[in-house]
Parts: sequence; structure tokens; C-alpha cells
Amino acid sequence: MNILVTGGTGYIGSHTVVELIGAGHDVVIVDNLSNSEEFVVDRIEQIAGIRPAFVKADLRDENALRTAFSDFEKIDSVIHFAAFKAVGESVQNPLLYYDNNISGMITLLKVMNDFGVGSMVYSSSCTVYGESDKLPVDEQSPIKRAESPYGFTKQVGERILEDLAVSRGFSSVILRYFNPTGAHDTSLIGELPLGVPNNLVPYITQTAIGEREMLTVNGNDYDTPDGTNIRDYIHVVDLAVAHLRALERLSEGKNADKFEVFNLGTGKGNSVMEVIKTFEEVTGLKLNYRIGPRRAGDVVSIYSDTRKANEQLGWKAERNLADMMLTSWNWQKAVSGLNEKSNR
Ligand SMILES: NC(=O)c1ccc[n+]([C@@H]2O[C@H](COP(=O)([O-])OP(=O)(O)OC[C@H]3O[C@@H](n4cnc5c(N)ncnc54)[C@H](O)[C@@H]3O)[C@@H](O)[C@H]2O)c1
Repeated sequence: MNILVTGGTGYIGSHTVVELIGAGHDVVIVDNLSNSEEFVVDRIEQIAGIRPAFVKADLRDENALRTAFSDFEKIDSVIHFAAFKAVGESVQNPLLYYDNNISGMITLLKVMNDFGVGSMVYSSSCTVYGESDKLPVDEQSPIKRAESPYGFTKQVGERILEDLAVSRGFSSVILRYFNPTGAHDTSLIGELPLGVPNNLVPYITQTAIGEREMLTVNGNDYDTPDGTNIRDYIHVVDLAVAHLRALERLSEGKNADKFEVFNLGTGKGNSVMEVIKTFEEVTGLKLNYRIGPRRAGDVVSIYSDTRKANEQLGWKAERNLADMMLTSWNWQKAVSGLNEKSNR
């Protein structure tokens, strides 16, 4: 199939493009490089052996999008990753997030409609569940009021697709990621956080390599076995493979509904201290960390019920926390050499 991937030079997008090419699909990446680098296209080619087409364009630029859709063979489906994702920044600048994530998606969907492209795989997040009343969280769990403008943009994106399923039979698969981490085994692609990382694992690896002095654990007095927050960490390559399954489900018409939602996690919760210990075990390093106060807005504990994805998508996470720590560390070592060159 011909697949257009928005945000395909980004963290999850790049790993997904590698899997798509590996499965024999032709890929067109559309990305404005606001949070990624063009060399990622070279890296994808190095890993997959085939170079994806790359169009540098902003999703809000309707003409550029039209050109992208018309310049390539008929696009069969779209995987939509492109969005801003920094929770704190979204609180500081909500309009930036509403404009980029929502206006960008609306423009994309309008152009898709004009070009007769009727399906999408959409990146959503477990943030839509907020502090869930029930663990593990399944797809039936209620959506809570979003804690941040970023979280709200994910909810709105889902709702737009739900409405389009009714109004024009548009088909979508919504993938709610838990906590993506890890990097490709080759250490050629991985996460490239701009500035201070928002997520735990890049913070750990940057501290271990000496780019940050110390990791602060945000609270150890939560109602969890060791007092630290619990999350469901999922390896980015497992996540990438799930996108392939979702696409196949759509193209083979196996979707039970025009609007479907799947949780993507391992189903296992790990505390911050467990993540730190696993990192220390697999690398043999001692991490410099201290216990600090709780961070406002942090959910105490969340992990997924993955049965729906296991049974209906035919997908199961295969990589464990040790794999995630090791590949993240190998990537950090590779990227720190790279930092000197690209200044990221
Ligand atoms: N990484 C996570 O922890 C996480 C968790 C849940 C959901 N998600 C969602 O997954 C998706 C991908 O996340 P990621 O971690 O790969 O992020 P990322 O920032 O690495 O990738 C996003 C890509 O989209 C591009 N982009 C952003 N706005 C654009 C626009 N208007 N036009 C064109 N390109 C644009 C960026 O340049 C970047 O390459 C996002 O939608 C994010 O909200 C991520």
C-alpha cells in the first residue's frame, strides 16, 4: 500500500516507517521538522534499505498538503503522528497547541477527503483516561476532563474521527499509547527530546551520560508499593508494529466498527524506582538521583488492560523493561556524539 505518514521523522513515526517499509509498503513522510531532523530519513533508509519519500510541509499548509497528495501515487491510508506533545508547554501556550494539533488535523482530513482517502490510524494517549477509577485501564474506562490543553487536543482528535465515522463512514483506528520508550536496536533512530526532557527515561539517560547533574524523583509518598508513580512503559518498536496491525485491519476491512480504540501498553505497571533499578542493572551504572516533592498533575498509577489489542489486533508487546533501558542507553550514547554536531 501507499501510506502517508505525518510526523514520520519523529520518534514513534520513524520507527513505524521502518516497520512499514519492512512489510513492503511505500511510504511518504510529511513533517515540518519542528521537532525532528531530516537526517532521520537517511537513518530510516540505512535500516530499512529503502528510502521513504519525504515532504517537508506543515499540516496547516493546505496547498502544500494537496501537492503532497497529488505528487504521489494514490495514497491508500494515513498514519497521523504529527502533533506537539509537551504538556507543560501546552499549559503555557494553549493556542499554539490547539492550532497545531487540531487545525493541522482538520486540514489533513479535508485534503484526505478531497483525494478520496477514507481511513486513518491516529496517535492518541492514555492521558485521555486521567486518574482512572479502575486498574488496569480498559478502553471502556471513561474519558476524564483533560488536565492540559495537550491532553484535550488528543481527545478532540478522537472525537473528530468518531464524528466522521458517522457523517461519512470514515474509518479510523485510535491507538492510545501508554508510555513509549526505548529505541531501535541499531541505535540509528530514537527519541530526540528538545531541551529538558518531559519523560523519565530520557532524563535518566541524559543524567547517566552527564548532560544533567541529577534526576529528581517526583515524590515517593504515593499510595504505591514503593511510594513512586507507576506507569506502563512500552517499547517504541512494539508500538511501531501495532501500527502495522492497525493498518492491516483497516485495509482488510476487519475493523468491527468505523471508529475503533485500542490501548497499547504491556499491561504491566512499573514504578519510577523500578525503572531506575532496571536501568542500573542493565547498564552497570549508578544513577545520581534524589527524591523531590510531588509534581502537580501527576496521575498516581496507570497501566493498561491490553486484552482488546491482543485479541482483536493480534498484537502483543514483546520487549520488556530491560530491553527498553538498554536500547535507550545505547541510543543516548550514540546521540550524545551526534549532539555535538547538530546542537540538539
Ligand atoms: N511520545 C509519547 O510519550 C507519546 C505518548 C502518547 C501519544 N503520543 C502521540 O504520538 C504522536 C507522535 O509522538 P512522538 O513522541 O513521535 O513525537 P515527535 O515530536 O517525536 O514526533 C512528532 C513529529 O510531528 C512533527 N510535527 C509536529 N507538528 C507538525 C505540523 N503541524 N506539521 C507537520 N509536522 C509536524 C514534528 O516535527 C515531529 O517530527 C504525537 O501525536 C503524540 O501526541 C506520544
